[in-house]
Amino acid sequence: MKIKISRDSSMSLHLQIYNQIRELIYLEYLPYNTTLPSERKLSELLGVDRSTVTKAYDKLKAEGLIKSHVGKGTVVKFISDYRKSAIKVVNIFDWDGFFRENNDIKYDDIIHLIMDANSNDDKIFFAGGLPSVDLFPVEDFDAIREEVFKRNLVDLFSHSPVLGVGELRYQIKDMMERYGINSSIDEIMITSGSQQGLDLIIRSFIKRGDVVLIEEPSFFGAIQLFEHIGAKIISVPMDSEGINMDVLEFLIERHSPKLIYTIPNFHNPTGTTMSLKRRSKLIELSNQYCIPIIEDDPYGMIRYGDKKMPSLKSLDYSNHVIYLSTFSKTISVGLRIGWICASKEVIKHLKNIKQITDLHVNTINQYFVSYLIKNNIYEKHIENINTGYKEKRDLMVDKLRRNFKDGDIEFIVPDGGFYIWIYFKREMDMNLFFNMAYKNKVVFTPGKYFLPKGELYSQYIRLNFTFPNIEQINRGINILSKSYYKIIDKGVN
Ligand SMILES: Cc1ncc(COP(=O)(O)O)c(C=O)c1O
Repeated sequence: MKIKISRDSSMSLHLQIYNQIRELIYLEYLPYNTTLPSERKLSELLGVDRSTVTKAYDKLKAEGLIKSHVGKGTVVKFISDYRKSAIKVVNIFDWDGFFRENNDIKYDDIIHLIMDANSNDDKIFFAGGLPSVDLFPVEDFDAIREEVFKRNLVDLFSHSPVLGVGELRYQIKDMMERYGINSSIDEIMITSGSQQGLDLIIRSFIKRGDVVLIEEPSFFGAIQLFEHIGAKIISVPMDSEGINMDVLEFLIERHSPKLIYTIPNFHNPTGTTMSLKRRSKLIELSNQYCIPIIEDDPYGMIRYGDKKMPSLKSLDYSNHVIYLSTFSKTISVGLRIGWICASKEVIKHLKNIKQITDLHVNTINQYFVSYLIKNNIYEKHIENINTGYKEKRDLMVDKLRRNFKDGDIEFIVPDGGFYIWIYFKREMDMNLFFNMAYKNKVVFTPGKYFLPKGELYSQYIRLNFTFPNIEQINRGINILSKSYYKIIDKGVN
């Protein structure tokens, strides 16, 4: 604060100080809430009596321009009209009124904790759906990265086609052929993970109020998307062979759904695989009632036994199946590369939506995946992770059986995929269990998130066994069982 005083002036010293501070305040060189020097300090700075400064400050106080607070000193209290009106606008600005209706995606504190814990490596993370970082073929990845960057820079750094880099689409087509899905290149598009595939399909097909049939329980990310668009979600019970087809047919007749969404291989969250008989029946119903099926297959290649099931898409004689898959579970979720295989008409439509959404998927990442496939690293890597994940699955199963008393929990041992879905037979407060485990640095996903109205699954949890390492699985299950018995034995509920 610069103040000049003149002892030659006819104006008194306190008025000179008052006038200059007043001007600084009005011009907002001293904005609202600025602390002024104490009277003693200012008198020293200006070489005047303290009473002179006191007189100047008193005058400013009398005009309401400054105010003294015990412990806080003297602060500016003036707000210009301009600022006052700006503050008014901010106060009445209500973003809620701007969001479109039905923005209420199911989200709560536990979901936030889970999402945050994901990037927090002091936690044992059983909650996600991430592949293992320990099994990355780091040297191969390095070599491929170098090879990709030898490519023409225009290829790498300019736009790629909306449907994806041509060579990757051809490779995906060949790969799917080996899994029994015959398609043409026009039937394949690359997406930013399966999540985007789902989003594009749902945005293209579903409007508010449309009925969709999903498995009960089902993938949290799909439920959120259906809720976000305002679909009426009806869930169909499953058993160890997948969706109950009698109930499905009954619901189809009753509700004329727009879509059926299913995860037939190593289902998320239950780990079950749909039987061949039910796959055939599902295709038959889809054809009979003319209802498209979304076959979401991120885990199909991650199998721990020899048994292979034909995909719905490979059984699909009427081209009603929209097939989705991803490299998120086999290579890395951060690459954000997935794909859709569907009829040309569907792909053409989705292409338009994709273009207005984000033009295309990250070009460099598409080449990275393409080179992994071209150099046979991808197939080798899948064999490798399948061996590693089987070991982790077996360990988790063994630990669960040892640590929990017979009859306290139930689960099926999945033949593939990422998850064990556990039912706790004795009633317990799941929030308390989650919080106790979380405090001890173990994070899991409570079952209620896998149904739109999740109460039915309040006694379930989903554990991921692929991401944590062997030591973490050992330690994490010990912590979970200890927390569980603490709650049960104390009768805390
Ligand atoms: C059934 C299912 N579909 C889609 C996704 C999303 O995969 P992406 O990372 O490719 O978007 C997941 C991820 O957990 C999933 O389990």
